[in-house]
Amino acid sequence: MIPNRWYAALSEKELRGRNLLGFKRFGLDLALWRRKDGTYVCLSDRCCHRGASLSHGSVVDDQLYCPFHGMSYDETGHVRQIPANGKNMQVQERFHVRRFPTQVKYGFLWIYYGDENQMLPDVPFVDELKSGYIYSEFSEVWPVHYTRAVENQLDVAHLPFVHNTTIGRGQKTLVHGPVVIWEEEKMTFYVKNANDEGTKTPQKPDEIRPYEQLFSLQYQAPNIWQNRISDKLRIVAAFAPIDDDHTRIYLRTYQSMVKVPLVGNLLANVLQLSNKVILHQDRRVVIGQKPVKSALRMDENLIQADLPIIEFRRKREELQRTEISQQEGESDGTR
Ligand code: FES
Ligand SMILES: [Fe+2]
Repeated sequence: MIPNRWYAALSEKELRGRNLLGFKRFGLDLALWRRKDGTYVCLSDRCCHRGASLSHGSVVDDQLYCPFHGMSYDETGHVRQIPANGKNMQVQERFHVRRFPTQVKYGFLWIYYGDENQMLPDVPFVDELKSGYIYSEFSEVWPVHYTRAVENQLDVAHLPFVHNTTIGRGQKTLVHGPVVIWEEEKMTFYVKNANDEGTKTPQKPDEIRPYEQLFSLQYQAPNIWQNRISDKLRIVAAFAPIDDDHTRIYLRTYQSMVKVPLVGNLLANVLQLSNKVILHQDRRVVIGQKPVKSALRMDENLIQADLPIIEFRRKREELQRTEISQQEGESDGTR
């Protein structure tokens, strides 16, 4: 994980009608509960007393009660009362569990993973999709680390092989570039795939000019991806890390061609159908990749076409290093 980042972790759809639920993200069991003001509190799903699952408890008057011995937690993750000790006895500071800040925005529940003192104010979503679009959503779990699921969407050489019946028709096997441009933690990559006449070698990224009109896709750290089909049609994926071997992928089709709600929803649903087929074509291959988790340096032979994947790995490791060394610097009083 890249620490000190907001992650799209659940869909707002999964929260509807529920005031308490348990789930796993970042390799941790989490309990999420709703307060009367509509905000969500995310705590470690393991009672600090004797380890019972808090998500099997109950929420009463903005406190979460453990189902085992009735200790009650507030929104900071601290125990307010220990029934067996009586109302008169003060609760010691050590009775608390880890709390993760949350925000509900753009149809996702975002969870902040890291040090709250370093917290970024806003969640990293695609700017132009924050309003004006209608989307359809579908999600499923893949048995891979989230890095492999992200990399699949950055892979421009697989199209004619994995998707030869859908988006990869036409045998455009020769990969020029791709051109990769970073703006802070957002990577845009421009794709120029061509038929191989046997007369050319791939153009280097800096030989492709101009590139701005080419088909492009984006990755926004830490876990959002966008395929810009057109101004009015986009595919977005959020890769929610469950643990080292599992990722929940939220796949959305956004459209702004029809803005009338019911018809617009219907259109988004229809467009989403083919994206689901395409995702399942990917799934067949990605779940067999070894190892399930990727790293910048490992036993693979990469090629020029893999540039967006290399860039993703490089940025991920750079951000991990920076955040971790900052934390260490702060804990020994240096920067
Ligand atoms: S295990 Fe939760 S109150 Fe005892
Ligand atoms: Fe694919």
